[in-house]
Amino acid sequence: MTTPPASARLAELRLNGAIPRHVAVIMDGNGRWARERGLERSAGHQAGMPAVREAVEGCLAAGVGVLTLFAFSQENWQRPPAEIDALMALLEEYIAREAEELREQGVTVRMLGDLERLSPSARAAVDAIQSATAGGTRLALNICISYGSRAELVRAARRLAERVAAGEITPAQVDESTLAAELYTAAWPDPDLLIRTSGEMRISNFLLWQVAYAEFHVTPVLWPDFTREDLYLAILDFQRRDRRFGRVSA
Ligand code: FPP
Repeated sequence: MTTPPASARLAELRLNGAIPRHVAVIMDGNGRWARERGLERSAGHQAGMPAVREAVEGCLAAGVGVLTLFAFSQENWQRPPAEIDALMALLEEYIAREAEELREQGVTVRMLGDLERLSPSARAAVDAIQSATAGGTRLALNICISYGSRAELVRAARRLAERVAAGEITPAQVDESTLAAELYTAAWPDPDLLIRTSGEMRISNFLLWQVAYAEFHVTPVLWPDFTREDLYLAILDFQRRDRRFGRVSA
């Protein structure tokens, strides 16, 4: 049996209905992809760039409204300096190469995380793509850089404490919605689907609050090999799930 082309899969998932509004992805396996080929880890990250494009274009074609990619965690600052430099260079290269096309495609790019830790040139590139793409209405592309979910929650708790101390809100007004409003993701609905590549069954400090009711899809595919076909297979898997949100089935 031959594999149907991605366009056939796309037609199939449109027929099935329910396209996730928000897809989040832990892009994992670049290092293993490189090791399997006897290459440096940075070559694996470089090889992961076309897969970012595949994910973005797949989401645009399928009608997904929000795509959140985990590109660099706070823990990743502990990697060897050469690997960190390579990842930051890739980020700047991605911005320089893709910003204009993303803008034309109606993609709004936001970078989420502790951006203070970025170098001045990376920071300037981030500011540039955020302002160049502001106002796009087809897809919100969130790229998590220097991101850690626990740190995000601590930041939100601190901001709420400051608002209470300033008399803007009372302690009783601290609830799920006021906390969610202080997260980096405040503007978007929670992810419906979380994809992790490379077969690892871990959440790795990613969107801990936001994935409360996300469906998980783990694929053995290493990130550099991820294509829009893999995205569509993940969405088809999502469409087979019975989402109950803690209630009983309809
Ligand atoms: C995990 O693989 C992947 C990363 C730490 C980086 C992901 C980054 C990219 C795909 C490129 C940058 C993206 C953008 C949007 C600019 P790993 O190194 O942990 O792999 P391993 O688990 O096999 O070692």
